[in-house]
Amino acid sequence: MLNGERLIERPLRWGMVGGGRTGQVGYKHRSGALRDGTYRLVCGAFDLDAERGRDFGVKLGVEANRCYATYQELIAGEARREDGVEVVSIATPNFTHYEITKACLEAGLHVICEKPLFFTVAECEEIEKLAAEKGLIVGVTYGFTGHPLVHQMAAMVKKGMLGDIRIVDMQYTHGFNSGDDVGAGEAVKWRTNPKTAGPTFVLGDIGTHLYYLSEIVLPHMKIDKLLCDRKAFIPTRAPLEDHATVLMHYDNGARGRLWVSSVNAGNMGSQRYRFVGSKASVEWSDSHPDQLIYEVQGEPNRTLHHGMPYLEEESLAADRMGALHTEGLGDSWSNIYLWIAQAIDAKNRGDEAFLKTHHYPGIKAGTEGVRWLENCVRSADAGSAWVAFK
Ligand code: NAI
Repeated sequence: MLNGERLIERPLRWGMVGGGRTGQVGYKHRSGALRDGTYRLVCGAFDLDAERGRDFGVKLGVEANRCYATYQELIAGEARREDGVEVVSIATPNFTHYEITKACLEAGLHVICEKPLFFTVAECEEIEKLAAEKGLIVGVTYGFTGHPLVHQMAAMVKKGMLGDIRIVDMQYTHGFNSGDDVGAGEAVKWRTNPKTAGPTFVLGDIGTHLYYLSEIVLPHMKIDKLLCDRKAFIPTRAPLEDHATVLMHYDNGARGRLWVSSVNAGNMGSQRYRFVGSKASVEWSDSHPDQLIYEVQGEPNRTLHHGMPYLEEESLAADRMGALHTEGLGDSWSNIYLWIAQAIDAKNRGDEAFLKTHHYPGIKAGTEGVRWLENCVRSADAGSAWVAFK
């Protein structure tokens, strides 16, 4: 169980690019990072509007002269200080991730970047090589995968409690884009333009969360082929999609079905995962993240609760609140940030043995998300044809 004790020797000097006052995801980063004394926020280029960014940064407790107008100024300004920033989080629209990550790595800074990581697998591979050359970590904020019961599902699959996995059923939907985009805010505008969002809208925006979580629970299974059907119900969003269905065939014979949509009008269910094996199934939703449904064929169904001693060690190790007291998204993000901090600390100490077994969402997780998107687009663009997974 985690209790806020600092698990690395000293706090990392941390900065943010993006995640400003009007940004949707910025606070999740800060509440995740600042929880356990593993990061200290020392600087930022928080906002495209430099004045607003400075005012915001100062109100977060950052010195005014370390609230920069651009990420380039941040990198240059911090390089001049003995106590300069060591790790930078990137919480900006998708099209900026690659260039900011590259610039930070070239300046010798660790990076924590939002998903979808970049536009292409080629970019991911280039950055993976650069990070390896520089001896730096790239973490990716798949913020839902710090929930203790996600790791319970993974442990149960690993122990064989479900039997052979046969069916994977995942859904991340909402209805917030059911209407047209006339008068839409910035966050919708950049998400629905291929120049700023990349090759996908909802597949990258929410589908990558499903895919990464399934990789954690089913690390032994790889996709052989997939079929993706995508559509823009609001025509101005084409060629990007506001709705998609993906069918997947895995190398162990399992079948997968994934549904992402931002036009599921009225739906507030968010994410739902069901992993079905030959003996039993588990079902989990981020709307009730501290409960896991466990159904053994021929037995009464059970609801497992977070923090209970009957859970697997991997789940209890990620617990913060203890049984009976609600765990939520903030706790999950804190775990993600903690695990990335431990990876950075190990990298700084040259502890490759620790890194070999330490679990955190890193560059490979980001790359696999982009690879999955590339395959989805290839299938959809071929008229929703089955394509071999490359
Ligand atoms: P947003 O549009 O709400 O906010 C973007 C923020 O970045 C704003 O503060 C803006 O001023 C700032 N910004 C934009 N370009 C900048 C630049 N060049 N330099 C400095 N600041 C800049 O976007 P939102 O929804 O917060 O998404 C940001 C990223 O986070 C996206 O990649 C998105 O996919 C991801 N995201 C991830 C979530 C997760 O659960 N991991 C949840 C929501 C978004």
